[in-house]
Amino acid sequence: MNNKRIELPDGAPLLKPDFLFGVATAAFQIEGAADSRLPCIWDTFCAEPGKIRDGSNGLQACRHIEHWQQDIDLIHSMGVDAYRFSVSWPRVMHADGTPNQQGLDFYVQLLDKLNGLGIKAFVTLYHWDLPQYLEDQGGWLNRLTAYRFRDYARLIARTFGDRVYSYATLNEPYCSAYLGYEIGVHAPGHKSKAWGKQAAHHLLLAHGLAMRELAEHAPHAQNGIVLNFSPCYAKTDAPEDIQAAQNADQYFNHWYLRPVLEGRYPDLMHALPEHERPVIEEGDMQVIAHPLDYLGINYYTREIYQADDTELFRGGQQKSLPLTDMGWEIYPQGLRNLLLSYHQQYALPPVYITENGAAMVDKLEEGQVNDWDRLAYLHSHINAVNEAAEQGVDIRGYFAWSLMDNFEWAEGYLKRFGLVYVDYDSQQRIIKASGQAYAHMLKHRQTSAIAGE
Ligand code: FCB
Repeated sequence: MNNKRIELPDGAPLLKPDFLFGVATAAFQIEGAADSRLPCIWDTFCAEPGKIRDGSNGLQACRHIEHWQQDIDLIHSMGVDAYRFSVSWPRVMHADGTPNQQGLDFYVQLLDKLNGLGIKAFVTLYHWDLPQYLEDQGGWLNRLTAYRFRDYARLIARTFGDRVYSYATLNEPYCSAYLGYEIGVHAPGHKSKAWGKQAAHHLLLAHGLAMRELAEHAPHAQNGIVLNFSPCYAKTDAPEDIQAAQNADQYFNHWYLRPVLEGRYPDLMHALPEHERPVIEEGDMQVIAHPLDYLGINYYTREIYQADDTELFRGGQQKSLPLTDMGWEIYPQGLRNLLLSYHQQYALPPVYITENGAAMVDKLEEGQVNDWDRLAYLHSHINAVNEAAEQGVDIRGYFAWSLMDNFEWAEGYLKRFGLVYVDYDSQQRIIKASGQAYAHMLKHRQTSAIAGE
């Protein structure tokens, strides 16, 4: 192995020509141009002192609204097959529900350019930037928000037409619900176990309602949802720790996966006190279980749990080295094992790895970022995906998070996940060594696929 390359074994399923490699971003994290859209919950959250580690916000970010053509050219120069990005709901709809034409036009021209270059567009409808006016009416605690999301999904599917290869309704509803409404470290910053579950239920309902719209108005697109999973490992072999890890797994992972695939919540629901269980209306679970064309999986790390005297599990356990700059354990086999275990437990639709990547301490030296650590992370995780594919999991694509450094939520601009370095003052983009290695792998995969035959 050449440790400056991302390599796959000859004949690897991931080298087949129809396997898609892409890069991913999200609207709030890159766009800037906040004055040409409505405020969202992240604007409000950022304005609260102490919520974002560096006190920053998304008002400028990567100024992608200004630099979008250059950014798409950059993506094209890397030779990727697909680009995953999100639409900013507050940019494309006014508070009265009427379309914001200027906002819609932005995405239509972006899609046209992508299509012109032969890059498949993976559009996420909701990557956390709920319009603030909806939060003012209760946000995801208000069932009506799910219906507003359905209207938004309809508008987008009708406007974008056949420009879109794939839609995702939601990105990581776990983060919106748990981080945003249960422990309050993400916008809108609420702290209530009951609210976390209720928000999760309304998000899932929104997903199901939007799936119906997509099936009707974008029938040729691949329509699905993006869920994030951190597989749960027990700290010791003691039965109570194993039980704790299983509880956490149901609480964080299967809480989202089981409803969308099987129309029911995990059994752990019965272990929750009555007041923490969500209000579920008749018919909701059928809506939520609308058939998926694909499942998007985001993976970064694993978690370790142990038993607790009063709670269902206790997390925050000591991690094994090495860690990324987020403090997340680098554990590629977790991704392979997760794919294999879900493949066994569920009738999975085709899978895309919609996010995977690492924040590292990048140094820009003489115009270069030699991020060998990120490159090694990508190499090991892409190979973990390949192993799962070899063992029969139907995986159709892989997206690196992220195309470029951007606003990393509660961490602000302190954490860099990009394959491309962004100098936020000059807004210059510089492809890092990892980005070059990714591009190199893509460029040479045809030849190595054939060599392996
Ligand atoms: C995921 C988010 C994405 C990015 C990465 C690091 O949870 O979907 O926006 O912040 O984490």
